[in-house]
Amino acid sequence: MRMYDIITKKRNGEELTKEEIRFFVEGYTKGEIPDYQVSALMMAIYFQKMNMKETSELTMAMVESGEIIDLSKIEGIKVDKHSTGGVGDTTTLILGPMVAAVGVPVAKMSGRGLGHTGGTLDKLEAFPGFSIDMPIEKFINNVNDKKIAIAGQTANLAPADKKLYALRDVTGTVDNMSLIAGSIMSKKIASGADAIVLDIKTGSGAFMKDEDSAFELAKEMVDIGTHVGRNTMGVITDMDQPLGFAVGNALEVIEAIDTLKGHGPEDLTELCLTLGSHMLVLGGKANSSEEAREILKEGLKSGKALAKLKELVEAQGGDGRFVEDQELFPKPSIIEPVLAKEDGYIKSIKADDIGIAALVLGAGRETKESEIDLSVGIMLHKKIGDFVKKGEAIATIYANDDSKRVQSEEKILKAYSIVKEKVEKKPLIKGIVTKDGIKKF
Ligand code: URA
Ligand code: CA
Repeated sequence: MRMYDIITKKRNGEELTKEEIRFFVEGYTKGEIPDYQVSALMMAIYFQKMNMKETSELTMAMVESGEIIDLSKIEGIKVDKHSTGGVGDTTTLILGPMVAAVGVPVAKMSGRGLGHTGGTLDKLEAFPGFSIDMPIEKFINNVNDKKIAIAGQTANLAPADKKLYALRDVTGTVDNMSLIAGSIMSKKIASGADAIVLDIKTGSGAFMKDEDSAFELAKEMVDIGTHVGRNTMGVITDMDQPLGFAVGNALEVIEAIDTLKGHGPEDLTELCLTLGSHMLVLGGKANSSEEAREILKEGLKSGKALAKLKELVEAQGGDGRFVEDQELFPKPSIIEPVLAKEDGYIKSIKADDIGIAALVLGAGRETKESEIDLSVGIMLHKKIGDFVKKGEAIATIYANDDSKRVQSEEKILKAYSIVKEKVEKKPLIKGIVTKDGIKKF
């Protein structure tokens, strides 16, 4: 088999076979096929596209390029959740305990990554002593005993995807539905998921800016999952503004605790109930999402979900007192409001600009080596549709450096668009995609 023939075949719009796909994925991972040939193939795929058979073969070839985590010793159906980016997204911290509290096993491997604020792992480390490093045996035992464990990714998961994604990133070939969907699904499948709930975000703060592409991406991922025997469904959600009010690390952990107590922000609570109810259905704990929602609400009301967070924190060496007393979390030296410059209704809040405003304060990592400041961040007070008066606080900045606070304030003011006419609030959940089709709300 020759790479040259595979490239010209795809360039001419023909379907690649399983053997051809395996050949280039394996050859590229081992360093036997050069970047320039794989770049040419990626560009051919970009223009000629791949069908579902090819996309599923690519996904599985990437899964099998590295370690596959074996979670078969965990009892029950392992349902994983994946969100496609977003700003101030604390859902894992809430959803994990919420679904574990009602008996669905949560075996979560999380990455750190770069971002506006830290990832789930960084946020969990706001509990002093919390450790994400554990041998796989302990991870599995914890899930069997407590129904939940969250660990750092140590395994070499889907190395082919890592290499291909990096290449696509610099060759203008990221934006292809098959390649994006295969890339995301390969990592989920390699981490041992039996079933997958996808949260595909759309809007200014999301990877998929327009709604149609978000539905298309969801459909592609659900089809891959179905094709390779993983029950998969997707929820399309709005990211035209940050989720919840908190953007930062300690601030988001506190918001997650509030949500588990049943008094979190409406949008964050709704998202967690929606994603959680689909997790319960795929996990075989409920027959319908309506029934599942009632079970989850009961878990919040009874305090079981919050107790589960404390159990998780303590099981991994963290200080559980922080769950009960939020005054213990680190506080910054500067807490200052951001005041509106005019009267009006909030029309939009550019989520990625708010993310950058938090990053500037030190809430996230600009490079892999950056240290995260857990105490800094932003609390939003106004969301889309709210009225604000000139001089009223639209947000509060938590900072440890006044020049950074000033930079952050400028970005927050620019992220908010305020208009005179009344603005309708937008629904958070835009639709769902299952193997049976697309339902738009
Ligand atoms: N995120 C991924 O993990 N892969 C892609 O290809 C795009 C976004
Ligand atoms: Ca948030």
